[in-house]
Amino acid sequence: MYSIPLTHTTLGEEEIEAANRVLRSGWLTMGEEVAAFETEFAQCMDIPHAIAVSNGTAALEISFAAAGIGPGDEVLLPSITFVACFNALVRLGAKPVLVDLESPHDLTLSPRKCAEVLNDKTRALVPMAHGGFPPDMGGLEKFAAENGLLIIEDSCHAPLAEWNGRKIGTFGLAATWSFFGNKNLTTGEGGMITTADDDFAARCRLMRSHGITRPTWDRARGHAAGYDVALVGTNARMDEIRAAIGRVQLARLPAATESRRAAAGEMYRCLDTLGIDGLVLPKPVHPGLPAWHLFWVLLPSGTNRGAVMDYLREDGIQTSVHYAPLHRFTATRDWFLEHGGLPDLPVTDAVAERLMTLPLGPATTTDEINRIAESLKRALDILQK
Ligand SMILES: Cc1ncc(COP(=O)(O)O)c(C=O)c1O
Repeated sequence: MYSIPLTHTTLGEEEIEAANRVLRSGWLTMGEEVAAFETEFAQCMDIPHAIAVSNGTAALEISFAAAGIGPGDEVLLPSITFVACFNALVRLGAKPVLVDLESPHDLTLSPRKCAEVLNDKTRALVPMAHGGFPPDMGGLEKFAAENGLLIIEDSCHAPLAEWNGRKIGTFGLAATWSFFGNKNLTTGEGGMITTADDDFAARCRLMRSHGITRPTWDRARGHAAGYDVALVGTNARMDEIRAAIGRVQLARLPAATESRRAAAGEMYRCLDTLGIDGLVLPKPVHPGLPAWHLFWVLLPSGTNRGAVMDYLREDGIQTSVHYAPLHRFTATRDWFLEHGGLPDLPVTDAVAERLMTLPLGPATTTDEINRIAESLKRALDILQK
C-alpha cells in the first residue's frame, strides 16, 4: 500500500447513513433517490435535464446513440483521453478521429487542430476537460456552429469547472459525467447525462431503460399497469444506493473542489520553490475555473518516466499516467491500422512520453505535498546525473 495514494476517497458518516436509509426503505432499484439526485445535479450544473446512468461510458454511448451518431459518422476527440469515448463510438459503428494537441501546455481539444481534420463526414466533437482544466470552449463552440457539428462534452473530470463564467457541461447538445471511485464526486460506479434539449433528454431517459415507457417505480406505486417499448435501448440504470451516496457527495462538492484548489496551490508553491529545470506544471490556459481533478506534470524531456515512478513508489507515493495516447494501445492501434492508418499526432506523442500524474485530492495534506515535491526533486536529481 502507498502511504500517499493518488487520491484519498472522502466518504463519511453521511454517505453511510444515506446508503443505510435506502437499504432500510426496501426499494433498491431506480426510484425517488435517483430522481432527486438528477434534479439536484441538474441544478448544480446550471442545466435543465440530468439523466442518471450506470457509469460514464454508458453516458457517452447513450448520448452518441440518442444524437443519432452511427455508421459513416466521424467524431473528433483528443488522443490523451480515457478509452471509453473510443469504445462507445466504435461500438456504434462511428469513426473516432484523433486530433493533435496545439501545445504541450494544453491537453484539451483545440479548434484550430480540429479544423485540420474536418471533412464532410465529421458529425460531432467531444471536448474533454483533461484533469479538470477547461478547454477553449468558446473557440470550439464557434467552430462547431460554423461547421454544423454537434458538441458532446466528456465532462468526467470537470464538475463545477467553468469556461469564462459558464459551467463546463453546458456548451453542447449534451455532457457526460462519471462517478467512478477516483472522480471528484463518486458513487463507486455511476454516471450522468446532462442536456438542455427536451427531446434529447426524453430519448436518453428511454434508452437507459430498454426504451420502456413506464419505469418499475411507477408500476410498483400503481401508477401504471403495463408499458410499451418505444425505442431500442439498454439497461444502464442507476440504483438507489448510489443515487443516495451521490446526493451527499454532490452537497460536498463545492467545499471539496475548494480543498483541491488549495492543495494544488500548495503543490505549485512547493515545486516552484524547489525549482526543477524543464518540469512543466498544469497551469490553466483558457479563462475559467478548473475542477482540479488531476495534478499532471510533464517531466523534463528525455527523463526515464518509469524510473521516476519507481523512485516515488519506493517513497510510498503513488503516481500514474493520464493517459497513454489512444492510438498506442494494442486494440486501438490495430483498429486505426484497419481503418485508414495511425493518425499523425506529433505534439501528442511528444507530450505523452513526459506525462505523469502526482497525487492530489481534497484530503491531501501540506505535509504530503512537501513529501511528493521533494521526492520528485530527488528522483530527477539522481536520474539526471
Ligand atoms: C475522461 C473520462 N471519460 C469517460 C470515463 C468513463 O467513465 P466510467 O468509468 O464511469 O465508465 C472516465 C472515467 O473513468 C473518464 O475519466
